[in-house]
Amino acid sequence: MNLLAIGDVVGAAGCDHLRAHLPALKRHYHADVTIVNGENAAEGNGVTPAAADHIFQSGADVITGGNHSFRRREIYDRLERDDFLLRPANYPDSAPGRGLCVLDLGRCLVGVINVMGEVYLPATRSPFETADRMVAQAKEAGCRLIVVDLHAEATSEKLALGYYLDGRVTAVVGTHTHVPTADARLLPGGTAYITDLGMCGPAESVLGVKKEQSIALMKDKLPVRFETAPGPCRLDGVCVTADPATGLATAIEAFSA
Ligand SMILES: [Fe+2]
Ligand SMILES: [Fe+2]
Repeated sequence: MNLLAIGDVVGAAGCDHLRAHLPALKRHYHADVTIVNGENAAEGNGVTPAAADHIFQSGADVITGGNHSFRRREIYDRLERDDFLLRPANYPDSAPGRGLCVLDLGRCLVGVINVMGEVYLPATRSPFETADRMVAQAKEAGCRLIVVDLHAEATSEKLALGYYLDGRVTAVVGTHTHVPTADARLLPGGTAYITDLGMCGPAESVLGVKKEQSIALMKDKLPVRFETAPGPCRLDGVCVTADPATGLATAIEAFSA
């Protein structure tokens, strides 16, 4: 079975680039499941119902989120009723939505979990304990394969969580930094891992934002209104090949388009 995971989609330009490239990537990799992080898909950040529709219609089976999942109020209702639009599982129970979904592929159930780190991100429940709870729930539901979107800033925290989950889940794929890392590999216990997938958004930008605006914020320390950068986009992701008999991965390949 082949599982595709795509990094954070940024703005309308990122949505358009995803639409242009995802169908061919799914065919090329014979994707059985496609997971796309959508926390920045709306213009101005967060995810709107229209952006979620666009990503699903482009071929995603599951949209994962992050620290921007709750930025747009108009998505709250959709988070409650759409099983496949996730937000990090470690938010309080009072937050709308869920951090785990189960895809029924007929021959096997696939669980997708969204967990957020706690370094330089909003204070929520421990990602380690949250991941434990979600993995237990997915296994209880009968999932043979489990993919974790680990939305976190610090590479060390992501690696630690990767090792913590090694051998218990099929794949741990990092999101949030929008910069792809060159460490896609199988961990010793058989879990496919990458510290960060990267993004689907403007190539010449800082996190998809106009570079001049990011520089101004960091240099001058005054509030800046961010806009999506112009110019060509790039899409980053991985294809994980997995064996439903073991629940583990046999290969991981990073790609860009
Ligand atoms: Fe992001
Ligand atoms: Fe994020």
